[in-house]
Amino acid sequence: MQVMDPDPSCPARFVVDACFEGGWDDARVAADLARGCDVVTLEIEQVSLASLEAAAKYAPVRPNATLMRIVQDRILQKTWLAEHGFPLGDWRAIRSEEELAEAVVALGEKVFVKSAQGGYDGRSQVKIGFGNPTNASEAWRLLGGKACVAEKALDLDREISVMVARAPNGETKSFPSALNHHANQILEWSVIPSAVPADIEAKAQRIAADIAAGLGAEGLLAVEMFLTKSGELLVNELAPRPHNSYHASELACVTSQFEQAVRAVCDLPLGDTSIVQTAAIANLLGEVWLGENGELREPRFDLALAVPGVTLHLYEKHKPRKGRKMGHLSAVGKTQDEAVQRVMEAKGLL
Ligand SMILES: Nc1ncnc2c1ncn2[C@@H]1O[C@H](COP(=O)(O)OP(=O)(O)OP(=O)(O)O)[C@@H](O)[C@H]1O
Ligand SMILES: [Mg+2]
Repeated sequence: MQVMDPDPSCPARFVVDACFEGGWDDARVAADLARGCDVVTLEIEQVSLASLEAAAKYAPVRPNATLMRIVQDRILQKTWLAEHGFPLGDWRAIRSEEELAEAVVALGEKVFVKSAQGGYDGRSQVKIGFGNPTNASEAWRLLGGKACVAEKALDLDREISVMVARAPNGETKSFPSALNHHANQILEWSVIPSAVPADIEAKAQRIAADIAAGLGAEGLLAVEMFLTKSGELLVNELAPRPHNSYHASELACVTSQFEQAVRAVCDLPLGDTSIVQTAAIANLLGEVWLGENGELREPRFDLALAVPGVTLHLYEKHKPRKGRKMGHLSAVGKTQDEAVQRVMEAKGLL
């Protein structure tokens, strides 16, 4: 197994035979990587189309550049979903400051503005009308004057996601949905299964499987969804890779998302996604390692690990930064509440 990453000391270095150092747009390094591979996959969306195409000359790339072109661009992604009849909240494609100003009026007072390309974990997003003074022209400037989408801020009851795995032979298997809680637009905790009512689960499963089939996805495809207070189930966005909200699948399901990713991209039979037990995760951001004045501190893992059912996962990222996902805690529980409560209690002790 070998990996390409812009950072030679990337977390994967401990588990691979070779590391290829190169930026996501370095097509030459992508080709070098693929030359020694039977199949290439990704775990980040930012890899350039040129790199994916260069790699595809030597090994199948799953997901492929056709799918990535759509998913990498929020405008193309939402347009594809809308044209294929999938439910979305109110949104507009924005290509100028004037369009953004008009959209903010049309969409109501609270709006999320998101760069079309390149954002994750709430980065490259600006909120308008949440009690801050940011207006359309300021938001346009903050996002670098580039294409973006404006979304009406929805009144959310809950957020869920469904992970689908689809092999090149067409076999498709989905995991039961995960319930996700965000703070400052970053996933704070997540629990599997979500325990949403059966009719909503069925609808979410249908939507996710139809999207994966429609896109001809190969490998994993996570579908993030909003459940609004008025009872609508809407698609938020797609992630064609292992997803933070399924880290708990390692404890919750017969087959984890990570094993399923390998099975799917290698065209092997897909694993059983049944629930074994309820499990939750809580993300550990760089803040946990930073003291009040920004100085490095060692978190109290000893205290967290004393909480029943809790385990620790660190990603071996060496530089803690605010908002950077450094690891997560997981916990099993008899119920969703118990699993989430244990994992959050453990996090509080760090
Ligand atoms: N239109 C919206 N209405 C209400 N809440 C929203 C809206 N858009 C985003 N959010 C909130 O912000 C979170 C992050 O948004 P989004 O998924 O678009 O960002 P992201 O940067 O791609 O995040 P990630 O990579 O972590 O999934 C959502 O999960 C939700 O909690
Ligand atoms: Mg998201």
